[in-house]
Amino acid sequence: MGAERTARFAADATKCIRCGRCVAVCTGMVLEQQGDDPPRMLPFERYGWRGCWRCEHCLAVCPTGAITIFGKRPEGSLPPAPPETGEYLERLVANRRSCRRYLDENVDPAIVSSILAAMQNAPAGGNSQTTEYTVVDDRDRIRAIRDVAYAAMEEAAAHGRYTSSFDDFYYAKMKQSEETVRKGDMLFCGAPHLFVAHAKATGRWAADIAVNCNLATAYFELLANAHGLGTVIMSYPSDVVRELAPEAREMLGIPADHYMKLLVGFGYPEVPYARGVQKDRRKVHRWSEQAKGQLSLL
Ligand SMILES: Cc1cc2nc3c(=O)[nH]c(=O)nc-3n(C[C@H](O)[C@H](O)[C@H](O)COP(=O)(O)O)c2cc1C
Ligand code: SF4
Ligand code: SF4
Repeated sequence: MGAERTARFAADATKCIRCGRCVAVCTGMVLEQQGDDPPRMLPFERYGWRGCWRCEHCLAVCPTGAITIFGKRPEGSLPPAPPETGEYLERLVANRRSCRRYLDENVDPAIVSSILAAMQNAPAGGNSQTTEYTVVDDRDRIRAIRDVAYAAMEEAAAHGRYTSSFDDFYYAKMKQSEETVRKGDMLFCGAPHLFVAHAKATGRWAADIAVNCNLATAYFELLANAHGLGTVIMSYPSDVVRELAPEAREMLGIPADHYMKLLVGFGYPEVPYARGVQKDRRKVHRWSEQAKGQLSLL
């Protein structure tokens, strides 16, 4: 089997200290290290559950940078995040707010490219890389898509038809929001750009594939906020695009047989927030000895 050749796995015998870490973390269980030999890749049937997961853990774990795989060299990896990143991320999660007011500007394309490069590493079940990302970071194009979707939404409402998520009451409420929070745009909240994670989701893994898309959505939101952008995750506009405005979906270029649920509007925020909010209503179940095995509430 030519797996070793196609994965191009190699462990440099002069650098390898035979610590066994690559074997210990190999998700596909396709690495072996015996005696004084450097690790080698075992033959496998095919990539995925029946072989190498293409996870690159071996490349990442090796303390001496001895491993190359798929043509990737250790020097090409980013170093680990510094310890203070933990607090930074906690603050980011605590202070991120859904943004429904945007500057009417395109975001610097270099920032979008940087985020999208990081998004290649969003987790996915079984390390499947089937989640696709569609990004429209051109405000004129977004306006054109919005106009088509908006017209379809209004036309349907005029005939008493709404998305499966809405009825006349919610529709009227949303319309009302155009006077305030979604100024002039109940659909995309005035966001100049859109990100959508989508994938072909059929068969036994369909539900997991949908989860992958939604998880990618969350990763995108955090990365965008880390770059100072505003974001809003939107389900209602997605319902409009999927259920009422097929032409807008085509303009987005999302295939009809792909799962797609959440849209992320993003752009430079118009209104800065001075501090985080103080939410504390979620139940957190955390086992402790003192609670005598009962789940305790923080
Ligand atoms: C699954 C999901 C769907 C959402 N759909 C919409 C939407 O259609 N329109 C909207 O303005 N906000 C939408 N939001 C944003 C939420 O309303 C928002 O996250 C929530 O009010 C909490 O506010 P925060 O994000 O500022 O903490 C959605 C959020 C999630 C997670
Ligand atoms: S890429 Fe992952 S599954 Fe493949 S050899 Fe490396 S650690 Fe093992
Ligand atoms: S992790 Fe690196 S040093 Fe350790 S056994 Fe594997 S190749 Fe050798």
